[in-house]
Amino acid sequence: MSSMPQPSAQNKVTVPFIRAQKNIQPLTMLTAYDYPTAQILDRAGIDLILVGDSVGTVLYGDENTLQVTLDDMVRHTRAVSKAANRALVVGDLPFMSYQVSKKQAIRSSGRLLKEAGAHAVKLEGGLEMAETVSAIVRAGIPVMGHIGLTPQTIHAIGTYRIHGKTHQERDYLIASAKALEEAGAFSIVLECVEAKLASEITQLVNIPTLGIGSGTGCDGQVLVGHDLVGLTAGRVPRFVQPTADLKANWHQAVEAYIQRTRENHARH
Ligand code: KIV
Repeated sequence: MSSMPQPSAQNKVTVPFIRAQKNIQPLTMLTAYDYPTAQILDRAGIDLILVGDSVGTVLYGDENTLQVTLDDMVRHTRAVSKAANRALVVGDLPFMSYQVSKKQAIRSSGRLLKEAGAHAVKLEGGLEMAETVSAIVRAGIPVMGHIGLTPQTIHAIGTYRIHGKTHQERDYLIASAKALEEAGAFSIVLECVEAKLASEITQLVNIPTLGIGSGTGCDGQVLVGHDLVGLTAGRVPRFVQPTADLKANWHQAVEAYIQRTRENHARH
């Protein structure tokens, strides 16, 4: 606890604090979708909690994130916000809650702040989303960008893979990062961006980048919390390097309970 940076007089992480951490201290972000998990992350001193639309795959067993609704996100974000005393809570805008129009994007973002207590929103997309980001920011809502692998476009891109290996992708990602910064985003997630390019983008923009599967050259890292602690139902990406195996612990705990109950309870 003592090594935690003190973000504000109220000891709350704020958007200006996150911006100011560039080149000062690496930022830490994990996903959470519920109250008890968010409480653990917050008390451990995480800087940002992302209520990701990965809730669809991680908690609901969906094949991808496309079925997650704004109502789902409001419900999960509200639970997380209640537990976050220090961390900045970022609510993910789900598929089709911001792509239709700028008005729709502002309304959806507003719900995540007003009804769910988020401090900021995140949306996927680069150059093509810059105007939308700008509109949300002008409405007074902090926005985190997200480029590279953007899971909401999985049917358009075909596979989950590293981005930025071709000249075309490289130019697009650099232009996108710059456009998001210009549009007023306070930080950018770089998901599965080729490591050298992620590092280059990090140096090109004045806002923090948070990498996931993008090497160690970003201003911080974001991971799916369940992946980190070994609670994922499916395959865990290699870059995660889990720090616990809670699934095995949980399994053992349930086995112990079954055994204890069978031994201790009377048979009639
Ligand atoms: O939804 C999510 O969990 C995310 C992270 C992978 C960045 O967007």
